[in-house]
Amino acid sequence: MESMGALRRTHTCNDLGLDFLDQEIILMGWVLRRRDHGGVIFIDLRDRWGITQVVFNPEINEEIHAKAHQLRSEWVIAVRGRVVRRPGSMENPKLKTGAIEILVDELRILNTSETPPFPLDEDIEVSDNLRLQYRYLDLRRPEIAKNLILRHQALQSVRTYLNDNNFLEIETPMLTRSTPEGARDYLVPSRVNAGKFFALPQSPQLFKQILMVAGMDRYYQIVKCFRDEDLRADRQPEFTQIDMELSFITEDEIITIVEGMIKALFKATKDIDLQPPFRQMTYDEAIRRFGTDRPDVRFGLELVDLTEALRDCGFKVFNSIIEKGGVVKAINAKGCGGFSRKDLDDLTEYAGRFGARGMAWIKVKEDEWQSPITKFFSEEELKAMAEALDAQPGDLILFGADKAKTVHQVLAELRLELSRRLGLVTEGSFNFLWVTDFPLLEYDEEQKRYTAVHHPFTAPNEDQLALLETNPGEVKSRAYDLVLNGTEIGGGSIRIHSPAMQKTVFSALGIEAEEAQEKFGFLLRALELGAPPHGGIAFGVDRLMMLLTGSPSIRDVIAFPKTQKATCPLTDAPSSVARKQLTELHLRPDWKEKE
Ligand code: AMO
Ligand code: AMP
Repeated sequence: MESMGALRRTHTCNDLGLDFLDQEIILMGWVLRRRDHGGVIFIDLRDRWGITQVVFNPEINEEIHAKAHQLRSEWVIAVRGRVVRRPGSMENPKLKTGAIEILVDELRILNTSETPPFPLDEDIEVSDNLRLQYRYLDLRRPEIAKNLILRHQALQSVRTYLNDNNFLEIETPMLTRSTPEGARDYLVPSRVNAGKFFALPQSPQLFKQILMVAGMDRYYQIVKCFRDEDLRADRQPEFTQIDMELSFITEDEIITIVEGMIKALFKATKDIDLQPPFRQMTYDEAIRRFGTDRPDVRFGLELVDLTEALRDCGFKVFNSIIEKGGVVKAINAKGCGGFSRKDLDDLTEYAGRFGARGMAWIKVKEDEWQSPITKFFSEEELKAMAEALDAQPGDLILFGADKAKTVHQVLAELRLELSRRLGLVTEGSFNFLWVTDFPLLEYDEEQKRYTAVHHPFTAPNEDQLALLETNPGEVKSRAYDLVLNGTEIGGGSIRIHSPAMQKTVFSALGIEAEEAQEKFGFLLRALELGAPPHGGIAFGVDRLMMLLTGSPSIRDVIAFPKTQKATCPLTDAPSSVARKQLTELHLRPDWKEKE
């Protein structure tokens, strides 16, 4: 190993081109590849910015050439040399530096490397666990590194935009109390206060509201949030929000400000000129037409309600479901009439994963409707279905019959699956949709009580306050979500700023006065001391970046992500701790035996 000595890097591995011919330069980086061509050694030298070809010719300098023979993948080197034009046939138009190479006069080996556990210069399948265990090697690969670079650019553009719009960046505590965003908390035991725990924030929700009471007016923070929930492809236990709160504000103003931010972000990262305002749709319409509150509206395949048309039909399955208050809805899978038995079985199995108890289907032919269930329907019913679904020969109709919630869930997923099978979405297209007028509360069958659809601090629609007592499930809230290509990337609301209203909503949620005081007394007290009207929103940075980069997993846009099992293979966290640490924290070290 050698030191850098007096050598100082003059350029990055992506800087040099024909403008630099004959200049003496110094590059430093990693050996991506070494190739021997009839005595001449070529090295692809890599750094964060790119790749430059470096040449060792024995006829020019035999000693350095011999030294270059030792070089292996991922060794760290410095080279001093001269920029020369590559022979015509060896130009590489794919590389920014592809017209030149470096003839080396001095080589220093700054560090060696063992053979990496997976090659970095090939696009081979490497298990996720191995990639995360050696994340520093994984991140040397340009395709992952470029996601982090884009993420940086995205966050810089957000900061610039929000700073220009009079927002203050203010930090809020990580060691705090539980705020109810609906997930389980990560707890931190207190050493100083025996038996007491901090919770890591699921979001800065209450602090940002209190900052509004404090007169900060416009707050933002790019902040880590922690939620101990079951992980999916677009969920991490710790993730990042662009979190905002504003005072003396309405839904429309927040939406406009946020659209400007997203526009700036897309311009800075992808040079895409989005054209706000984005489309808006009420929650009820989204559910009715797409079965979900985060519809991908880049394609049709909408849900069609056949409940009324089939109320008295002869098909017992549908009939009895409708009688019990359920619904029958269908999707016309245009042009899918040629699906095989196996295709239909696969789709039925798929629907089953989301709770379907069956998936009746009809193939629309020129002169008949082919299906085991056609015989149960009258001419009139078939005609009504054909009209409602705009059924044409060659179409396939898929049915869902059950409680409305189940039907919506099943058909929403079937719709997505069909769009994948039929290739209905163009990669790289971005379709934004605001979903508005969410219900305030939702009845939870298991807990036998209402829960907040967003969170308990969301303001109800002012025209429906009377319903809070009589029919709470009907009350809409002043909440809005931003959906991108069928993924919820952000959500927020106008908040409750009157203490009386906050108490009313707590009580509708079954949170007794005493419990409200114990858990949220500090918020209620703040609302009593001159809280301005306020509202805000938070965006999931990781999800947004996942969509922006077209990554299949949220892990691809996070430097050090967790696995599906919420572990970190790099550091091997979570890990056991010493007995002493546990006792200091007043935790029983023998919990295992007692389990
Ligand atoms: P919400 O809970 O909707 O709202 O979260 C805001 C956004 O954060 C992202 N998100 C996640 N991303 C990755 N992994 C997760 N586990 C995860 N959970 C949420 C989503 C979501 O839209 N305090 C409110 C915001 C407000 O009312 O202002 C809140 O946290 O993209
Ligand atoms: P069965 O009479 O149970 O054999 O069902 C006849 C057809 O109706 C089959 O194609 C089933 O998949 C379908 N089916 C049964 N239950 C449902 C349901 N809840 N929703 C949609 N289709 C169903």
